[in-house]
Amino acid sequence: RLSDYGVSPVFGFLPSELPLEILPDLYYSPWEAVIRNLQPLILSKRLRGVVDKLPILSTDLLQTESEWRRAYQILAFISHAYIWGGNIPADVLPPSISVPFIETAQHFELPTVATYAAVALWNWKPVFPDEPIDDLENLATLSTFTGSLDESWFYVVSVAIEARAAPSITLMLAAIEAARCNDSFTVTECLRSFAELLDDLGALLMRMYESCDPHVFYHRIRPFLAGSKNMADAGLPNGVIFDNGSGQDQTPVHFSGGSNAQSSIIQFFDLVLGVEHRPTGDGPPHVTDDSKATGPPAPSHSFMKEMRKYMPGPHRRFLEHVASVANIRPYVNARRSDRALCTSYDACLAMLRALRDKHIQLVSRYIVVKSRESRPHSRSLSPRQAQPNLIPQPMNIANASSDEANSRKLRGTGGTALIPFLKQARDETGEPAIDAW
Ligand code: ALA
Repeated sequence: RLSDYGVSPVFGFLPSELPLEILPDLYYSPWEAVIRNLQPLILSKRLRGVVDKLPILSTDLLQTESEWRRAYQILAFISHAYIWGGNIPADVLPPSISVPFIETAQHFELPTVATYAAVALWNWKPVFPDEPIDDLENLATLSTFTGSLDESWFYVVSVAIEARAAPSITLMLAAIEAARCNDSFTVTECLRSFAELLDDLGALLMRMYESCDPHVFYHRIRPFLAGSKNMADAGLPNGVIFDNGSGQDQTPVHFSGGSNAQSSIIQFFDLVLGVEHRPTGDGPPHVTDDSKATGPPAPSHSFMKEMRKYMPGPHRRFLEHVASVANIRPYVNARRSDRALCTSYDACLAMLRALRDKHIQLVSRYIVVKSRESRPHSRSLSPRQAQPNLIPQPMNIANASSDEANSRKLRGTGGTALIPFLKQARDETGEPAIDAW
């Protein structure tokens, strides 16, 4: 059953109860006070001092899953604000935040980093509770680093995509069942509806431009979304120590920052259509939570699989289950003379590929172009805000012929070589296309 995996037929991987806007137990009011004042605390550079003085609160009083989600979500924002919200990044998180953050992360089998669950899945509310949430006009966020509309929009576009895509789960599970019964008509119908749905998602993604300004995204929002892996250029060479207060030496962690590959629905699309992603040549080393990242690079390993560790445990297990039953691609492959079936399958691949093309366009405009503009002499950064330079130093050579090389060196907050990774994922989406003629 879907509910065994924390998946809803209506809301998909979004929680079926509205995310809590505040933890009800007053015991947690110190955390709520920090998150409520996050922007003034960051702006005045007083956040670290305030967090250092917080008591270490127990997670024992968290009662419902919604409360655990709220706690994980706000602790993720406070942690990243602590790490990135000063003149130089902080590489030690104090026990007041690290102890409860580790406990809430363990509860969901998530890493202690601002995952997609923290910033998108569990960070929204409807503007009008009686209206649908797959409508961007009806979504707002609970937490942001900057208080900007641009940041809210950046997150709620993902939430709207999750909501709009949710019906694809039962739809494609029905297709799998129909393929098992050799009901080609139903498989074709499901694939047709799925292709239409994927097309809608592309349209939703392109609405990013409406209210998220690339300059605000690149300079104000993105620095806070960075993880702790491969962050030497941003001033965080050794990862982050989550101080557990034991007074003993502790090993730093190296986690990837936010990445859309942490969205279970996007990985569901690939699994159900039989799209396989290979390791990226220049991907992150296969190390998530220890200090081996500083050693020789481990064999590179599928980033998509790695990102499943950044999804809540039940969602990760749902994807494993889907992988074990996915049969659409071999089913279509074995019926190449069934023109309607093959066309509808190919339409899904084409739409998923188009979605990835749109994502690449977005990344070009929001990251690649902005990184070129921010080389020396053209930087327009506010000195009052931490602006970790996420761009490796070689990026800072202003010469047109190096642009191509530079965009190859750019890394996403997830840690991938940004453009080559996205292009590879797009190209792999096209690969299994079944041509019946
Ligand atoms: N993964 C996105 C980036 O690289 C957020 O900026």
